[in-house]
Amino acid sequence: MAEEAVLGFLEKNEEISDSGQFAAEQGVDHQELTNVIKSLHGFRLVEAQDIKRERWALTNEGKMYASSGSPEVQVFLAIPPEGISLEELQKKVDASVFKIGRSQAIKNQWVEMGKQFVTRKILHVEDKVKELLILVQDEKVIDPKDIDALKRRKLITSQTWKGYSLRKGPCYAPKRKKYATDLTRENLQRGEWKDLEFKEYNFLAKGQPVDGGCLHTLLKVRQQFKMIFLQMGFEEMPTNNFVESSFWNFDALFQPQQHPARDSHDTFFLQVPSTTKTLPEDYVERVKNIHESGGHGSRGYGYDWKREEADKNLLRTHTTAVSSRMLYQLAKDGFAPKKYFSIDRVFRNEAVDRTHLAEFHQIEGLVCGRGLTLGDLIGVFNDFFSRLGMKKLKFKPAYNPYTEPSMEIFGYHEGLKKWVEIGNSGMFRPEMLLPMGLPEDVRVIAWGLSLERPTMILYGVDNIRDLFGHKVDLGLIKRNPLCRIGIE
Ligand code: PHE
Repeated sequence: MAEEAVLGFLEKNEEISDSGQFAAEQGVDHQELTNVIKSLHGFRLVEAQDIKRERWALTNEGKMYASSGSPEVQVFLAIPPEGISLEELQKKVDASVFKIGRSQAIKNQWVEMGKQFVTRKILHVEDKVKELLILVQDEKVIDPKDIDALKRRKLITSQTWKGYSLRKGPCYAPKRKKYATDLTRENLQRGEWKDLEFKEYNFLAKGQPVDGGCLHTLLKVRQQFKMIFLQMGFEEMPTNNFVESSFWNFDALFQPQQHPARDSHDTFFLQVPSTTKTLPEDYVERVKNIHESGGHGSRGYGYDWKREEADKNLLRTHTTAVSSRMLYQLAKDGFAPKKYFSIDRVFRNEAVDRTHLAEFHQIEGLVCGRGLTLGDLIGVFNDFFSRLGMKKLKFKPAYNPYTEPSMEIFGYHEGLKKWVEIGNSGMFRPEMLLPMGLPEDVRVIAWGLSLERPTMILYGVDNIRDLFGHKVDLGLIKRNPLCRIGIE
């Protein structure tokens, strides 16, 4: 209907100068007319020019008073000519109406409010506020002083009104042709197909977005690392036990029992079950000895090693706990050179911020073989990280209780054009390997890094909480590319 009115009017007239006025004259809702205009404009049947006007509109409170009267009048009318007790009056009107109405009525000198009793001071009042509000609602012009007063009472606000002026467009026709979009069974049966005009195909139109499942960003980067390890001939270690004993997480790695990382400030200990049931006793004995008094040319730490400390269950703080189990098993089964990797979750009792969570994912790699050297370690890194697009590496001496030498790894990031820290590494100490029963000449080179850090760099995420945890940004996961070919 609105469409016919617009097209019909433009057939006889040059323009519709104001869609607001036009809507009022035609008795149609302006919003509805706006939708029609947008569609006609889209098909270029009309040209539309924006027009804007500032106007006054009632607030919700204003709308309420426009229909049921101002609070001061409501209060006034609730007072009978003979007066009323304050308590009774309060029962007769809403609490919010009472509060505002009372002060206005007193200000207007309409009522006399005693401590207990209320009386009218005059016989009749006019609801000027209500009248003014209705005028504003009808878009009538009112005195600026009154506007000011209503504004101060927050009964009206200024609003920008948007409308259009309209002229014929290049494809103007007095009636819009309806094109068929589908050929139906009925069209064929009734023979309508002969006269139907079909809408042209728009091959450039975008389809509906496909709302399928999306892989989490971390999973995509994990897959990439996994492929690199597999291409380099690494086997994956089983990482399915998040709960580990202190023994495998720390003691087997020659980490002394008073080491600060073993404090509950850094590590989550389990309450139930608080201790592990079984440990390989003969190996435990050898680990105890190496901590207490050394051996194989080491002096040990020279302290009283406690079994209770080793028995304590915890959430593993690194996947190196998995490596220690694997190496022990390898020694037991008879040594053979191996390349192992894992990518899984670890837990640390850390203060959460933009770059730290209390749980994250660790990528761990190790190579064990006879007579390996630091040169092999560096060679493996060059190979591993160049497959990630990092061809320039730098190493900085570092310290881990279980490696000597230890190195922090830095890589030059071509995209960010700067050096970034990418991992920690080293050669496992004889104090760790020999009690396991590995042959003397076996060396193990190993490294670890977080999965989150490279993921944040690759996907430009600067707050780790958007990536992982209960505040994860699902939109980000959906918007991110499905896969990356090569890493820039
Ligand atoms: N476990 C170390 C960490 O959590 C990483 C690492 C693994 C270091 C293997 C050296 C050798 O940071």
